Amino acid sequence: RKAKMSVIIERYKDKVSTLTKQETWMNRRLYEYQGFWYHQGFWYQSRANFSVEAIMATQDDFTAKSTDIFLASHPKSGTTWLKALSFAIVNRTNFIIGTGSSPTHPLLTTSPHDCVPFIETDSFLNNPSYANGLMATHIPYTSLPESIISSGCRIVYICRNPKDVLISVWVFFNKLKDNSSTPMKLEDAFELFCKGISLIGPFWDHVIGYRKASLERPDKVLFLNYDKIQKDPNNEVKKLAKFIGYPFTEEEEAAGEVENIIKLCSFEKLSEANKTNKDGDVTPKDVSNEIYFRKGKVGDSTNYLTTEMIEILDKITEEKYNGLDI
Ligand code: A3P
Repeated sequence: RKAKMSVIIERYKDKVSTLTKQETWMNRRLYEYQGFWYHQGFWYQSRANFSVEAIMATQDDFTAKSTDIFLASHPKSGTTWLKALSFAIVNRTNFIIGTGSSPTHPLLTTSPHDCVPFIETDSFLNNPSYANGLMATHIPYTSLPESIISSGCRIVYICRNPKDVLISVWVFFNKLKDNSSTPMKLEDAFELFCKGISLIGPFWDHVIGYRKASLERPDKVLFLNYDKIQKDPNNEVKKLAKFIGYPFTEEEEAAGEVENIIKLCSFEKLSEANKTNKDGDVTPKDVSNEIYFRKGKVGDSTNYLTTEMIEILDKITEEKYNGLDI
């Protein structure tokens, strides 16, 4: 795996050297590529490794099949939850989910990230076998490998409100940092996030790209919202199941199958299941799967952000979305 990483870094060395750079959090430099910011090289563990070289290699090497289904998101927008829900829906006939969930369900023994890997970090580095054509990506819509669009693959995007995303990102990266470096201050994270200089940011542009695509190609792109799933999980999960080609039958609904899946994928259930297991990769840092579960609440950001920060973020959001129904 390390050898593959070195080959990829070497392959894109010249291309990367021409990109605009920006010093950011924790002495990490971000590189601007096709309007979004990425790390360079390979860092920490594969799942947080959304490097510019990985994106370039995915664009060059990845070929989608028309039957593939992509779960897309900006980091910390509910990716783990969407992976779990989609995996549980697609595989529901293989595992007994009802009362007293089958202890062998993969979602109770592995991470949702092992069940549905990212194309840009796992696909060419680990060559995992994909379950039922489900794959995930953080790549912005306008930078997706060409075959995903041309072969008419279905894409499900999960969006989340920017305030909660900022706090989730900030806490996550502070947990990942080396013990030797000082934690990133919220004020600094806020400033860069607002400027759009954050991992795979600007956040708003990421959302807008997929939102516009969902309006232009509604049969191919489903736009979901983390906060809406929290509010009305039953309706949103049914919508998701239908879109990905696994609609619930009347009998299943009557038997409480939708509720069973929601329960299996709940924050409480999955965070408990992920307390013990570790990231399957060989990592410089022992990153626990638990890191993907923090609070899982809507509006937790109000416990951290000042009134002024909230006002600024709301203003940027309103201006950027410019009337788009998001
Ligand atoms: P918080 O940091 O606000 O708690 P991602 O999966 O894109 O990395 O996003 C992580 C966010 O989703 C975290 O938010 C995490 O707690 C929350 N999350 C993870 N699993 C969840 C689940 N099953 N249900 C609801 N939220 C979940």
